[in-house]
Amino acid sequence: MAELTVLDEKLAEVLGLAQAAQQATRKVAGLARREQETELLELLQRMSTEAADTEQRCQQVADSRDGLKTAIRDKARETKREVAEFMRTYLEDAEALDGLEFLSMAEAGELAHWEILGTLNRRAQLPEVARLVEAVLPLQQRHVAAVRDSSLRLAADEDPSEPA
Ligand SMILES: [Fe+2]
Repeated sequence: MAELTVLDEKLAEVLGLAQAAQQATRKVAGLARREQETELLELLQRMSTEAADTEQRCQQVADSRDGLKTAIRDKARETKREVAEFMRTYLEDAEALDGLEFLSMAEAGELAHWEILGTLNRRAQLPEVARLVEAVLPLQQRHVAAVRDSSLRLAADEDPSEPA
């Protein structure tokens, strides 16, 4: 199989993370729905749509990487699987607030990967990657901020002396 460059591997990882983000936001949306957290539910649905859009954009760039399409897809799948595994253990018997804690890690990790991809591309200077990062980075920054805000809003409503 074709060898991935450092940059292509990072592209594969952000692709896998965008796929994983759709699963994660859907899972936490289910928790939000159960707790009738409508505002949170709407946020998570929006984030899921944006993650799907990000996946498509990543896929388009991956398709433009000659001969590497399969290797990128396989690496993305591996990344997605790793996050899914972590999510499964973290979100056993979870409430919406646990879901937001998980998302705060996942989204921060996703943002870090995008910043790394952007930094790698300063030397690689691939125009399609530059455009991709430029489009997605602000979105990821918003995701991290929104998850943080929501988690603190839910935490403020919790009774700290209640049994956990
Ligand atoms: Fe995200």
